[in-house]
Amino acid sequence: MPRVRVTRRLHFNAAHRLYRADWSDERNREVFGDCSNPNWHGHNYEMDVTVEGAVDPATGYVLDLKLLKEAVQEAVIRDVDHRNLNLEVPWLEGLNPTTENFVVAIWNRLEPRIPEGVELNRIVLWETPRNYVEYSGEQGSREAAG
Ligand code: NI
Repeated sequence: MPRVRVTRRLHFNAAHRLYRADWSDERNREVFGDCSNPNWHGHNYEMDVTVEGAVDPATGYVLDLKLLKEAVQEAVIRDVDHRNLNLEVPWLEGLNPTTENFVVAIWNRLEPRIPEGVELNRIVLWETPRNYVEYSGEQGSREAAG
């Protein structure tokens, strides 16, 4: 049976500050630039969530994309949209919310909630129209699990 990857794009916006509490404001500014502004700033995030699975011969679908949308909304979007990532999201607590750290946290949060019959393949997270990161889980974890 052919296996196909399908992707849902989602949007949210959130505020953050990149910094390490054990560094001076000056050092934080040097390393993290404008993203270290002590009074926060926002980003319009775009996120592409890709799952992979067999095409159901009955429906011609890998899954109902509405189920994927709902899973992402419940696991991630509901918690982060219009929030401060440093202060208001329990599963990001203690994390410097770089896009890299954020995408790994999103994966760990979402992966157990992916609808049955498909597996999470990739998350692409855009922080700006020019910068994105992508993550596909720990190397070999899916093989080990599968
Ligand atoms: Ni930023």
